[in-house]
This record gives sequence, structure tokens and C-alpha cells, in this order.
Amino acid sequence: MSHAKIVIFNDTHGWHSQQLVAALTALNIEVVLTDLADCTIDLNQPTGLSIPGFEDQLPAAAMARGIAPGSLEQITLRMDVLHTLGELGVPVFNPASAIEHTVDKARTSLRLHLAGLNTPKTWACENPDLARNIAQKYLSAHQSLVIKPLFGCMGKGIEKVESIEQFDAIQVVGDAFYMQEYIAPFEQEHWQDWRLMVIDNKVCAAMSRRSQHWITNFAQGAECFATTVTADMEQLAIKATQAVQADYAGVDLIRQQNGSYTVLEVNSVPAWKGLYQATGINVAAHLAQALANRIVDNIKNKQHSC
Ligand SMILES: Nc1ncnc2c1ncn2[C@@H]1O[C@H](COP(=O)(O)OP(=O)(O)O)[C@@H](O)[C@H]1O
Ligand SMILES: [Mg+2]
Repeated sequence: MSHAKIVIFNDTHGWHSQQLVAALTALNIEVVLTDLADCTIDLNQPTGLSIPGFEDQLPAAAMARGIAPGSLEQITLRMDVLHTLGELGVPVFNPASAIEHTVDKARTSLRLHLAGLNTPKTWACENPDLARNIAQKYLSAHQSLVIKPLFGCMGKGIEKVESIEQFDAIQVVGDAFYMQEYIAPFEQEHWQDWRLMVIDNKVCAAMSRRSQHWITNFAQGAECFATTVTADMEQLAIKATQAVQADYAGVDLIRQQNGSYTVLEVNSVPAWKGLYQATGINVAAHLAQALANRIVDNIKNKQHSC
């Protein structure tokens, strides 16, 4: 394609940014690496935005690869920049709305549920008495609950609760309860889940993660290996990605005891190092191509509307 200049936002640019820069450069796309925290909202600018490296033009596209933890005010300013880029007609991978739909686990659960997709039974609330009642009712009739931080990632801070005493001992992050039915492994004591990378409505790579422990994140030491997936699993992952309006996503599926698959999580800022190591698939090249296609479509659409 003809020369284009895009921006990748992250607070620290590591391996993933390097992979993307290599893949995008091969497509004649120039990349500026910066941080959403270094952008300014400036109403002296016609666009209202000042982005490092883009003094008098807008980026041809933007990728949001990482948003550092911050105060509610800081995160709000960063999301303002992403939202505004989208509103200015810049393709943003993933759009601010998709990021909002997925960083908050309750929002993801709602989107999946309302899209009619299979996802574990989940409750979220802030009133501790209500949460306790729900837990008590569920625990006495069923087996276990999983309690997760609303903004959790990489398997951090997740707890399995089997009794109301265990529930009472838990201090939830931010005084927000996010509780989910525990999905027992399909094969007893063999904890396993599947990570499918969806890009532009296609599954580009898939792996399975296996562990001696029920939390099977790569970051928690699970063993990752390449795997084939069924057409049903692919469809579920693609629909889950659509349900959160993401252009690309890492979708986690788990197998229930009846053999069917259910969506555990949709990650709109997914890492792919584990996936790359397990499968050898150049995920960055697929992402770069998807972004290039979007830039071309965007230019064509603008020409049509002129
Ligand atoms: N409801 C559940 N039932 C069984 N295992 C779960 C459940 N929720 C999470 N897990 C395990 O914990 C891991 C991390 O959970 P996930 O919801 O993906 O949060 P994170 O954002 O921290 O990755 C999953 O990959 C899975 O192994
Ligand atoms: Mg996960």
C-alpha cells in the first residue's frame, strides 16, 4: 500500500510492539510508538487532540496495546483520546468501546449473555449482603464459585470459594463482587482451557493451556501447546469477539462436563507471545494486514463520501 503513518499506544513498548513494527514496516506502514498518557487534549487543534509524532495530521490508524493503571481521572483522559480518534474517523484497533466492554469482566459477561452466547452463570454487585446471599444460595445448592477482580488479568487475584466461611474471608478488590459458577474440568484433575485469537472474524491461531492447577493462564505457569479447534469453537470465539465489538481479540474457552464449550473471557488487548511460541504463527503479521486493509477501506470510504 502507499505510505501511511500509524500510532501504537502503550506505556511500555516491548516484544509485541517490536513484532508489530516489523510486520507493519513490511507493509510500508510507518509506526510511531507512544503512550496515551503522553497525548494532550487541546482545543487549539482542529481535531482537539495533540498526539506525539502527529503535529499537523491525524494517524492513518491507531492501535491501543496497553493502558497503564491510573486514577479514574487519568484513565478517563486516555479513553477520551481513543474515543475521539474513533469519532474523527481514524480506525482504532481495538475501539475504545471494545476496550470498555472487555476490561470490565461484568460488562463482558453481560454482552456475551445478551448476545445469546454460552458463558458461565455470573453475578456482580457491590452490596456485600446481596453478594453473600447469592453466594450462600449458590454454594448450598451447587458446588463452587469463582470470585475475580472486576479488572483482573493474567489469572491474578482469582479465588475459588467452596463454603460461605471461605466467602466471608475474601476481601474483594474495589468493594465489587464478581462471582461466577466454577466450571469443573471435563477430565477430572486435568485443568485445561483454549485460547483462540480472532482477527477480522477469522481464527488466526489457537492453543490450549494445561495445568495442575485450576487457573490455566500462561502467566501462571500453564503449559501451552498448539491445538486444532472445532468449527463450533471457532464460531463461538468469533461471535464472542463480535459481541464486544472488537476487531481482534483473544478468546478463552473452557469445556464443560457435558462436552460443550463456554466463553470465559474476551481480551481486547491480548498478548500473543505464548500463542506464537506454541504455534509459530506470526500473529503480528495477521494483525498488520488487518490494519492495512482497514486503512485502505477507510481511504476508499472517504473518497466516496467526497
Ligand atoms: N468460572 C470458572 N471456572 C473454572 N475455571 C475458571 C473460571 N474462571 C476462570 N477460570 C480459570 O482461571 C483462568 C483466568 O480466568 P479469566 O476469567 O480468563 O481471568 P484473567 O483475566 O485473569 O485471565 C482461566 O483461564 C481458567 O483457567
Ligand atoms: Mg483469561
